[in-house]
Amino acid sequence: DWTMDAYKDIAIEKIREQVGDSHVICALSGGVDSSVTAALLHEAIGDQLTCVFVDHGLLRKNEADDVVSMFRDNMNLKVIYAQEQDLFLGQLEGQSDPETKRKIIGGLFIDVFQKYANEIEGAKFLAQGTLYPDVIESVSFSGGPSVTIKSHHNVGGLPEKMGLKLVEPLRELFKDEVRALGHELGLPASFIGRHPFPGPGLAIRCPGEITREKLDILREADAVYIDQIRKHGLYDEIWQAFVAILPVRTVGVMGDGRTYDFACALRAVTSVDGMTADYYPFSHDFLGETATRIINEVAGINRVTYDITSKPPGTIEWE
Ligand code: XMP
Repeated sequence: DWTMDAYKDIAIEKIREQVGDSHVICALSGGVDSSVTAALLHEAIGDQLTCVFVDHGLLRKNEADDVVSMFRDNMNLKVIYAQEQDLFLGQLEGQSDPETKRKIIGGLFIDVFQKYANEIEGAKFLAQGTLYPDVIESVSFSGGPSVTIKSHHNVGGLPEKMGLKLVEPLRELFKDEVRALGHELGLPASFIGRHPFPGPGLAIRCPGEITREKLDILREADAVYIDQIRKHGLYDEIWQAFVAILPVRTVGVMGDGRTYDFACALRAVTSVDGMTADYYPFSHDFLGETATRIINEVAGINRVTYDITSKPPGTIEWE
C-alpha cells in the first residue's frame, strides 16, 4: 500500500522531530492500536523506546507470552513485562460489583504503570495509540462502564502527573488505516486482525466474584471456542467472540457420574464500531460441536449456553 508507506515515512520524521534524543515510554496492551504505536516508534527511534506490558492476571490463555515474545524476541523492542497478577487478583478478592471491579483495575493499572515508568531513566514522553475518532469525540459506552476504551490503557491524567509529554502518532488515522500501517511495519496479519480485547480483561467476562479457579476455567473454555471459530473460518466475520463464565454451578451427568460444575455462555457479535451489535447467527451444528468440545475438554464446565442478545439492549461484554 503505497499511501501507507508514504504516511509511515512522514510519521517517522515527525516522531524524530518531536522526540529528539529523549526517551519514550509506551503502555503496550497487545491490542492493535498500542501495538502499531509501539512498532512505529521503534522504527523511528529504536532503543529510545521502552514498552511496559502489564499482566493483571486477567489475560487470555498464552496472551502475555505471545505479546511479550513477539515484541521482545521477534521485533527487538525493549519490553518490561510487569507481572502483577497477585496485586490485581488480591485487590479484587471478594468484589462482585461491576463498577467496583472496574475502578479497582483502572486505579491499579495507573499505579503499576507509573511504578515501572518511574524506573525508566530520562523518560520525557508517553506514547499513546489515540485514533482520529477518539480525537473528534470522546467515546462512551451504554451500560455505563466507568473505565472506557480509552481511559484504561491510555492511562488518562498520568502524563501531567508524571511531567511527561504525549506522542500520539496515530491521531490522524482511522482503524482500517492503523491496520494498514501495522501491515507496513511488518506486524503479522493474525495480530493486526485480532478481535478487540477490553482493558479490564476477563474480569468483565466473569460476572460476580473473580477467583483464580474461575479464571483458569474461563481461559481454557475461551481457547477452545476461539479455536472452533478459526477452524470454521469464521474469525474475520465476527467483531468479537469470547466465553463468559457464569457465577452458577449446575448439575450434569458424565459417564457414570453426576457432575456439579460451572455453566458458561458463548458470545459472538458483528459490529462496525462496538456501539451497536448483533449476535452472530452460528449454525446449530457449530454450536452443538462447540458445546461438546468445551464440556469434554474443559474440566469445570458442564453446561454451555449461547447469548443471543443484541446491543442495545445488551452490552457486548457481560459487565
Ligand atoms: P460494551 O460491553 O460496552 O463494549 O458493549 C463495547 C466495546 O468496548 C469494549 N470495552 C472496553 N474496552 N476498556 C476497554 O479497553 C473497557 O473498560 C471496556 N469496556 C468495554 C468491549 O470489549 C467492546 O469491544
